[in-house]
Amino acid sequence: MNPSTLIQNDQAYLLHPLHHPSAHDNPLIFERGEGVYLYSVDGTQYIDAFAGLWNVNAGHGRKELAQAAADQMSKLAYASNYAGSANLPAIELATRMAGLAYPDLNTTFFTSGGAESNESAFKTVRHYWKRLGKPDKTKIISRTHAYHGITLAAMSATGMSVYWPMFEPRVPGFLHLPAPHPDRVTGDIREGETLGQAAARALEEAILREGPDTVGGFIAEPVQGAGGVIVPPEDYFPRVRQICDEYGVLFIADEVITGFGRTGDLFGLRRYGVQPDIMSFAKGVTSGYLPLGGIQIADKIREVIMNAPPNERWMHAYTYSGHPTCCAVALANLDIIEREGLVANAGVMGARLLDGLKALYEEFECIGDVRGLGLMAAIEFTSDRATKAPANLGEKVRAAAMQRGLWTRALGDVFMFSPPLTITADEVDKVLQIVGESIAEVTA
Ligand SMILES: Cc1ncc(COP(=O)(O)O)c(C=O)c1O
Repeated sequence: MNPSTLIQNDQAYLLHPLHHPSAHDNPLIFERGEGVYLYSVDGTQYIDAFAGLWNVNAGHGRKELAQAAADQMSKLAYASNYAGSANLPAIELATRMAGLAYPDLNTTFFTSGGAESNESAFKTVRHYWKRLGKPDKTKIISRTHAYHGITLAAMSATGMSVYWPMFEPRVPGFLHLPAPHPDRVTGDIREGETLGQAAARALEEAILREGPDTVGGFIAEPVQGAGGVIVPPEDYFPRVRQICDEYGVLFIADEVITGFGRTGDLFGLRRYGVQPDIMSFAKGVTSGYLPLGGIQIADKIREVIMNAPPNERWMHAYTYSGHPTCCAVALANLDIIEREGLVANAGVMGARLLDGLKALYEEFECIGDVRGLGLMAAIEFTSDRATKAPANLGEKVRAAAMQRGLWTRALGDVFMFSPPLTITADEVDKVLQIVGESIAEVTA
């Protein structure tokens, strides 16, 4: 098929995520990838500065991952993993992941992606409290700018309101609090209080307002991703952990983006010295080569599931939970992450990227903020650094960068970066150069 027929058929027969024809009048059709590069059907090369959708941590074109899938498919592509059966790669992956992220998280349930993982987390919270005789602890507290996926409950936890209106009513019992945006105060800060303490206090006040006996869980991304790469202050999560403990609220870390190295730590919450009770993961576990996600649960939650009478069992399931081929690819992907030191590289290259973005801040008055952790970074445009008034530049700079061979995403004025963790210094510099040229062109 030639490129124009491809586009015609795409437009005629495919419904895309977040579909609107206005966003799809001239789609870029990718054909292959190699390292940090993507190639469209007409042969144009793009630096994939978003690693697919925050997920292609090991970079594109890894034959070793294709081989792992082929080997497993020829042996056993699929078998049920429902209670009463299992398969080799699922057991091996769960064993390898026991305690890998956090010492207390030793038990894994597999899903096919991030939203399914968060659904599993929410249902596990309900199950846990029902088993402990507190059936009303069903509410989940989340935060503005949060992205937790867009199945119905995950969408209700998601704190970006653009996702809601045409699909409401939302699932009841999901509340949103201000997230601690270092650059902007969304809640009130008392005298002598830090931003992190104020945002954590908002959680405590919400739990008290709703009634601790009605709040089952709190969910947070260690670094908010799709909401605009928002890095919390250092004192926020330690205080959140204390509050969750004090009021008996399970802390769910949504590490769908931050897991498997992206922040320069193997998992994102580690740098804050805090452990969650449940962790959702997906994306980087297979570097996106096959769909896989899951939750890991703390030992105390595992005990409650293991000790349930049959009529109170954890009646939760997906056909593809523990999919042998996906798990085999995850194992090979973890080998790559370890062997090639990709977590450390994310730290080093992330620092280089952030330094370069800070230099652009000095150069361009239209940049109002630069932020990031590891290989999650963003610049935010503004027409006035003092008031942070919008500049409506994100999409324009994105389009200009695309013309120069850089592929990434913008959200309003936030221009985001999340390249493969394999990125080299030269490639980071190339990204920075293209971004600088694109801003210069758009603001000329
Ligand atoms: C933090 C976070 N949680 C959950 C999800 C949802 O994952 P999925 O699209 O695989 O359902 C995403 C997707 O970007 C995410 O960034």
